[in-house]
Amino acid sequence: MADLPPPRTPGEYRIALVCLGNICRSPMAHVVLAERVAEAGLADRVTLTSSGTGGWHVGNPMDDRAAATLTHAGYDASRHRARRFEPAWLDELDLALAMDRQNLADLADLADPVSGRRERVRLFRDFDPQEPGGEVPDPYYGGSDGFEEVLTMVERTAASLVDRLALVLAGHRADPPGSRSR
Ligand code: 4NP
Repeated sequence: MADLPPPRTPGEYRIALVCLGNICRSPMAHVVLAERVAEAGLADRVTLTSSGTGGWHVGNPMDDRAAATLTHAGYDASRHRARRFEPAWLDELDLALAMDRQNLADLADLADPVSGRRERVRLFRDFDPQEPGGEVPDPYYGGSDGFEEVLTMVERTAASLVDRLALVLAGHRADPPGSRSR
């Protein structure tokens, strides 16, 4: 599984969660990860945003199906308003996490002209402990099952990501368990 890049500023970590429209996947990941970060006592050290590579939905709340799935699972989906990802953010972020490979390719294109930016662009599910390296599939054109599937992936990956954040913010490298020789 992937390592977290070291923070640009020791003791702080800034993550952007990025999908296409910023009304389904990255907002769901944002709400769930924010909850896990708060539970871990890291809310004052971890900054989270979510955004889309496309701008069609800017200013809109979350997709009703995404919001219903989160609400049913006990999360607050009401505060989200869609934003478009801005390339300049890549100079300040510690990590931009793409939901699928197209989002990753779009972010990589934005990152590439400036050295040092590309290594902070990853797939969100690089940190999935169960199936690392997969995509969070776009549920927009499907049924409610797709949103449940997104929530399951996001909850599992967010828990693992927060464990790594706790380590890297404590000044350790966030190596995966068992990766070091004994
Ligand atoms: P998201 O889903 O990228 O997870 O927010 C989508 C939302 C809107 C569209 C596509 C995907 N759209 O084409 O409008």
